[in-house]
Amino acid sequence: MFNKDIIDSFKTIETPFYYYDLDILSETLERLIIEANSEIFKVHYAIKANANSRLLNLIRSYGLGIDAVSGNEVKKAIEEGFDNKDIVFAGVGKTDKEIEYAINSKISCFNCESIQEIQVINDISKKSLVTSNISLRLNPNIESKTHKNITTGTKKNKFGIDIDDLDDILTLLKSLDNINLVGIHFHLGSQITNFKVFDELSKIANITNKKIYDYGILLNHINVGGGLPIDYNNPEKNYIPNFSEYFNVYKKNIILLKNQKIYVELGRSLVGQCGNLISRVLFTKNSYNKNYVILDAGMTELIRPALYNSYHKISNLTSIENKFKKYDVVGPLCESSDIFSKNIKLPFSKRDDIFRIHSCGAYGETMSSNYNLRNSIKSYYSDMI
Ligand code: LLP
Repeated sequence: MFNKDIIDSFKTIETPFYYYDLDILSETLERLIIEANSEIFKVHYAIKANANSRLLNLIRSYGLGIDAVSGNEVKKAIEEGFDNKDIVFAGVGKTDKEIEYAINSKISCFNCESIQEIQVINDISKKSLVTSNISLRLNPNIESKTHKNITTGTKKNKFGIDIDDLDDILTLLKSLDNINLVGIHFHLGSQITNFKVFDELSKIANITNKKIYDYGILLNHINVGGGLPIDYNNPEKNYIPNFSEYFNVYKKNIILLKNQKIYVELGRSLVGQCGNLISRVLFTKNSYNKNYVILDAGMTELIRPALYNSYHKISNLTSIENKFKKYDVVGPLCESSDIFSKNIKLPFSKRDDIFRIHSCGAYGETMSSNYNLRNSIKSYYSDMI
């Protein structure tokens, strides 16, 4: 809950904006570090979830690495002081320029998603007179039972290398002098609430690791990707994700050989609950028996509800009414899908009320846009207000 001082200061700031609670982020990172035993796990933060400098600064101070999916994400991580050796570069389509940049930056490893990509990295590495570390992103064909748009590890998805091609790749690698295979990588999807899926993944990871070992290669790590969910329904009660169960699944199931480590790439679970979208009511109206609250924030600031029909809790921070009404809470954009939530119960709301959209720290600011030539979204932090 926000106290009166915070709400009063929100009233004086031009809306919409993101408000990040740095105490929540610190507490989340502290709990992460306790649960992710560093003897076994290495955590890379999936910077795609939120690349805000203030957040990155805090994340870096807890010793995390970075999972990047574009040359610019690699660059941003380096600029923010992350150690190049702690950066992994993933992504289904990397340009030659991005590959060259990452090689010159001496990052830790490339997560490769096709045979052609491995060959291109080999060629570019040869020209640069270096050997590049790669990890194979394998598509294990496991249904992650999350939203179809954020499922990545089934045979219907574009991601990863068909796991049945592993033998061919191992044979190919023998002929590639500038590639060093150091890991295997999987990512089943995001916001995965059924942890049995991670049991299934562990089994496939173990079989693959053993097979590669029998082939004569001892991997340095098994990367199991991200996917740990947050509680969008009860964000205030459960603001810390279930790190302990998540890490225990892998601790229990993954068989490590020699000094191998488990890499995890967490995005949403680290930053999701520290971010809020704060917006002002522009107008209210009733049309064909429906009550609308029209906010000054829309899908340009938070696209998740429009894109995935995602639920975010919404609160009116300034209404003092104790009567309630059902509202559709919508944005100002010229798009019918510019809706945050339909038919939700809120206290009577009026022009100039301040609204809070909860759990927006992940995939909020990074997915914002300037559609309709809207201004770029600003951010404020709990230590400023
Ligand atoms: N590793 C890889 C290879 C990924 O593709 C992703 C997310 C992650 C790690 C981090 O996953 P997380 O811990 O955040 O679940 N925009 C969507 C989510 C897209 C996720 C993309 N990949 C949303 O707003 O729900």
